[in-house]
Amino acid sequence: MNLLSLSDWINLLLGAIQVLQDGFLHMLAALGLAQTSHGQPAWPFAERLSGDVLLIDRSIARQLLSALGFSVVALLALLIALVWRRGRVVMLLATIAIVFFTPWPDRHLLVAPAEPTSFHTSPTGFSVAAIVHGRQVYEQHCASCHAVDGKGDTPLALSLPVSPPNLASGLLWRRADGELFWKIAYGARDRHGAATMPGFTRQLADNDVWALIDFMKANAAGASIRAIGSWDQPVALPAGAGADDCSKQAAHGGGQRVRVILASARQSAALPLDDPRLRSVILADGALKLPAPQAGAPAIDCLSRSKDAWQALSIITGIDSDQLAGTQLLTDRDGWLRARKLPADSNGAWSESDILCRAPAYMEAGKSNKPGGLDGLIAAMDAEPVRFIKGGFVHATP
Ligand code: HEC
Repeated sequence: MNLLSLSDWINLLLGAIQVLQDGFLHMLAALGLAQTSHGQPAWPFAERLSGDVLLIDRSIARQLLSALGFSVVALLALLIALVWRRGRVVMLLATIAIVFFTPWPDRHLLVAPAEPTSFHTSPTGFSVAAIVHGRQVYEQHCASCHAVDGKGDTPLALSLPVSPPNLASGLLWRRADGELFWKIAYGARDRHGAATMPGFTRQLADNDVWALIDFMKANAAGASIRAIGSWDQPVALPAGAGADDCSKQAAHGGGQRVRVILASARQSAALPLDDPRLRSVILADGALKLPAPQAGAPAIDCLSRSKDAWQALSIITGIDSDQLAGTQLLTDRDGWLRARKLPADSNGAWSESDILCRAPAYMEAGKSNKPGGLDGLIAAMDAEPVRFIKGGFVHATP
C-alpha cells in the first residue's frame, strides 16, 4: 500500500480548511445568522484560516499535520478513558500530557485577513461570454495601470508610489476569488491607509467585476503560453466553448475528453475525422461549411459558430484570433485544458509532447514503455490528473 505523500496530506488539509469554513458560513446563512454582501452570505470575521504558508514552508505543514495527529490520539485516549474504568486515570493523564505538550505552529502562520466576500464564488463561472465581456471592461478601466497584457508596466503604473503586481503571473490563482473581487470593488491601501489602487464599486456592477476576474485569468494563461510555452496554472475549457447545441454531446453527457478544432472557411477540406476516444467539436470562424459525409469515414457533426468562444480561446492560448484557425485543443475528463496542437503540425498525429499542463514527475518516469500518439497523450493526462485547490497544488509534486 502506498502511504500518502506529504503533498497529498497538504492537499487534503487545504481542501479541509476550505470545506470547513465554507460549510460553516453556509450553516450560518441557513440559520439566518449571516449578513449578505454582494448577493452572497458574508464572512463575519476579520480573519480566516489559510493554508498558504503550508505550501511555502513544508516544516510548518509537517508540524501542523503532526499536531493534528496528536490531537486524534488525545481524543482516542479520552474515549478509552470513558469506557475503560481501570485504566481511566492513566488514560486521562495521557490525554492531558498530549494536549499540553503538542507543539502547534504559531497561530499567525495559519490565519489571513478576510473580507466579507472571501468565500464568495463566481456566478459567471469562467464562461466565454464573461471572458470577452471582462476584456472590454478591463481595457476601459484597468489597462491604463495594469497594461493590456497584465504586466503592469505602463507609464502611469511606473509613476505610482506602489507598482501594480504582474497579473500575468500565478498571482490570481493564489488568491481567493472573493478576495480579488473585494480588491477590485474597494481598491487597495498601503500600511498608512493611503489608496494604492482605486475601488470600482461605483462604476462597475458585480457581474462586471466577476467577468474581470475571468478575463484576467484567461489573459494570464495566454501570457504563460507566450512566455514559457505552457500553462503553468490550471485552465478549464471555458463554458460555452464546447458546442452546447450539439446533438451527440447531449447524449454523451459530461466527463468526456473534448477536442476543440478551430477552423476557418479555408480549411473545410482538411478537417480531421471523428475519433471515438474524444468528443470532437468544430469551432468555426465565418462561413465554414462542413464537408459532405463520406461513406465509412465518421465526420464530426458538432459545430459551433460562437464568436465569443473564438475570442476567449484566442486569449487563453495567447494566439491572435486571425492566427488561430487550424489550432486544436484537448481537455481531460475533468474539463481542464491539457494539450494543444498548432496549425503547423495539423497533419501530424497527436503525441504526448502536445501536453501543455502537466506534472514534472510523469515526464521523467519510464519514457520507454509508453504508447505513442493520441493513446500516449491520453495515458499521460489520465496518469497525472490536475488536482487544483485554490492556493494549493496544480499538480502533485513529488
Ligand atoms: C491607478 C492605477 C490602477 C488602476 C486603474 C487599477 N489598478 Fe489594480 N492595482 C494597482 C496597484 C498600484 C496595485 C497594487 C496595490 C497594492 O499592492 O497595494 C493593484 C493591484 C491589483 C490586483 C492585485 C490584488 C492582489 O490581491 O494582490 C488586482 C487583481 C488588480 N489590481 C486588478 C485591477 C482591475 C481588475 C482593475 C480595473 C477594474 C484595476 N486593477 C485598476 C493600480 C491600479
